[in-house]
Amino acid sequence: MARRKKIYEGKAKTLYEGPEPGTIVQYFKDDATAFNAEKKDVIEGKGVLNNILSEYFMLGLANVGVPTHFLKRLNMREQLVRSCEIIPLEVIVRNYAAGSMSKRLGIEEGTQLPRPIVEYCYKEDKLGDPLVTEEHIAAFGWATQQDMDDILSLALRVNDFLSGVMYGVGIKLVDFKIEIGRVFEGDFQRLVVADEISPDSCRLWDLETGEKLDKDVFRRDLGSLTDAYTEVANRLGLLPKNQPPMGKPTLIN
Ligand code: TMP
Repeated sequence: MARRKKIYEGKAKTLYEGPEPGTIVQYFKDDATAFNAEKKDVIEGKGVLNNILSEYFMLGLANVGVPTHFLKRLNMREQLVRSCEIIPLEVIVRNYAAGSMSKRLGIEEGTQLPRPIVEYCYKEDKLGDPLVTEEHIAAFGWATQQDMDDILSLALRVNDFLSGVMYGVGIKLVDFKIEIGRVFEGDFQRLVVADEISPDSCRLWDLETGEKLDKDVFRRDLGSLTDAYTEVANRLGLLPKNQPPMGKPTLIN
């Protein structure tokens, strides 16, 4: 079989040309990075877990009418997605203070915010993804005002959906990051949720104990990242019963 064409290699995923025009194969690696790749490791099984978790969240979003780039999962590590033009923003929604917001504003981690707060970072590794305002976004032409209205509405719908799903399995959605892509349909463009939704891009705390079940386990050296992600996948019913936490994840279907 001919070698397929690599389109892009990021920190946690590699993108390959898909089988049909307008499609891309998204391969989930086991690489974990933090602090703009200053901290790095390979965590066996992370890619498999993120692949099934992202599939689950993207399918759930589509079921409640939120458009995404996801088409189907191909195997343990790959999914087929629609090719889209990624808007160079990290869209962050926060329900509780944590991470960079706690540092920046001196708010204790875990403090409930008066309402969900949406932040935008300019996606540029060389600059460490700096926080920007809608003024920067409009002035530099990264997105139009109409795009920004649509992005805000998508971000809040994702927040409502994900908060509910996680609450249902005893997990608090503290915050998350999404990326938005433009899909072109003839002369029209549509905005869709792209990239991935996984514990790499969310903060997830156990409702009862506050235990962290997300990438902060790696960022802050709190224990086994695969145990944490396996716990999330198990609670959502995505793994066979009694999956040993350190075992290589097996898929239900
Ligand atoms: P922050 O508190 O470090 O700004 O992170 C906010 C949310 O965004 C958190 O859920 C983790 C996620 N995130 C990413 O997905 N990618 C990143 O590069 C960073 C810095 C955060």
